[in-house]
Amino acid sequence: MSSPLNVVILAAGKGTRMKSDLPKVLHPLAGQPLLGHVLSAADTLSPEKICVVYGHGGEALPQAIGRDELAWAKQEPQLGTGHAVQQAVPHLDPEAICLILYGDVPLTRPETLREMTLIAREGAIALLTVRLANPAGYGRIVRNARGQVERIVEQKDASPEELAIDEVNTGILCLPVAKLAGWLARLGNNNAQGEYYLTDVIGMAAAEGEKIIPCHPAAEWEVLGINSRQQLAQLERMHQHNVAEALMVQGVTLIDPARLDVRGTLECGRDVLIDVNCVFEGAVTLGDGVKIGANCVLKNVSLAAGVVLQPFCHLDGAKVGADARIGPFSRLRPGTELAEETHIGNFVEIKNSQVGFNSKISHLSYVGDATVGRKVNIGAGTITCNYDGANKFRTVIEDGAFIGSDTQLVAPVTVGQGATIGAGTTLTKDAPAGQLTLSRAKQLTLPGWQRPVKKK
Ligand code: UD1
Ligand code: MG
Repeated sequence: MSSPLNVVILAAGKGTRMKSDLPKVLHPLAGQPLLGHVLSAADTLSPEKICVVYGHGGEALPQAIGRDELAWAKQEPQLGTGHAVQQAVPHLDPEAICLILYGDVPLTRPETLREMTLIAREGAIALLTVRLANPAGYGRIVRNARGQVERIVEQKDASPEELAIDEVNTGILCLPVAKLAGWLARLGNNNAQGEYYLTDVIGMAAAEGEKIIPCHPAAEWEVLGINSRQQLAQLERMHQHNVAEALMVQGVTLIDPARLDVRGTLECGRDVLIDVNCVFEGAVTLGDGVKIGANCVLKNVSLAAGVVLQPFCHLDGAKVGADARIGPFSRLRPGTELAEETHIGNFVEIKNSQVGFNSKISHLSYVGDATVGRKVNIGAGTITCNYDGANKFRTVIEDGAFIGSDTQLVAPVTVGQGATIGAGTTLTKDAPAGQLTLSRAKQLTLPGWQRPVKKK
């Protein structure tokens, strides 16, 4: 049986350069906290345990992440990366292998990490390193004459020759817990920063003849860490570029791949087209042939095949049937369900309502807490008055009804099948099926009336 996997995530650091009240690892990338990305990557490896080392920012971190099954090890004060891992050791299984990740390095691919766990399961130490055009600031990988990893030297402790090394330590490593614990116990802090360096473990291991196997990421973005808002924005763009590439490979047309933001999961059918500046949040599903106009925001939405969304729509928690036409400037709020071939026009807001097949709400309306049947036409400026200041009530509009413009439907109220409501009506009682109902003050013309004139 292979040894269990324990993951340690270092997240106690201050993140000074973010200049933020929010702990660094809670800053979002693609809509998810940095630490959330690291946890997701760890989850794909099905570890027996995940321990997060936290400190700066205090309990805000565990509270924000809110996952009860995680182990949290508090590091206070923060005396370096080696000291940080020491705080996690009591939580770890001595039989396990330990994968050490950084909470501010969000995009490491699970494949890369899996390869490292396989190496550690064979008893060796897997160390993720990368060659950088500009290695400044990183720990350098010092190799011996035979090319084997000998130790890691931090920037501030390095000689000019060592500073010339372009292979750097990403900080990510995987090794057996028992050996790690032994080396950590012997760490000193006699170095330029007066810190307990995790990296010194590599020197100890090499001195004891342990096998250290360098692994490399497939791309540099896998190992990029976030220290500043600039780096956060840069990595966000890289990530969005990758997402856009994957969508296009899969057959999605993006009018401009540089102007797309996916902050969750976006599933697309065949021949989906997405115009510029659209944002997708949460879980979004787009069926075959869906077209999304420019500047739309979609959150937790599913659009069936053939739906056309015109520019400037905001959809949240809505489900839309095939071939519906929506927008421009439509707002669909949670609980909206539109059937096939519905048509929702400009400045229409719909909430917690079902709209039946081929019904149209084309202009300037609010439809909330309503059940709208098939082939209903709702005229411009119609409002469901669903709220009396304390409670919400439903409006029911049955199949084939026609609601004249500027109607207020004071819920609870029902408009019967095929009923017609005259323009300007304030409907306070149910309207019978098949008949015209209206409430309207009688029109009046005053003969001989004259406009007042200003007195001299
Ligand atoms: C570390 C490595 C360096 C590597 C670099 C990669 C050491 C000594 N150096 O340097 O070789 O090239 O990362 O980015 O390990 N942290 C704690 N507690 C602490 C200190 C740090 O939890 O006391 C956490 C931070 O929150 C962060 C990570 O550890 O997530 C790395 O800390 P950081 O201070 O950025 O280390 P570097 O000096 O950059
Ligand atoms: Mg750093």
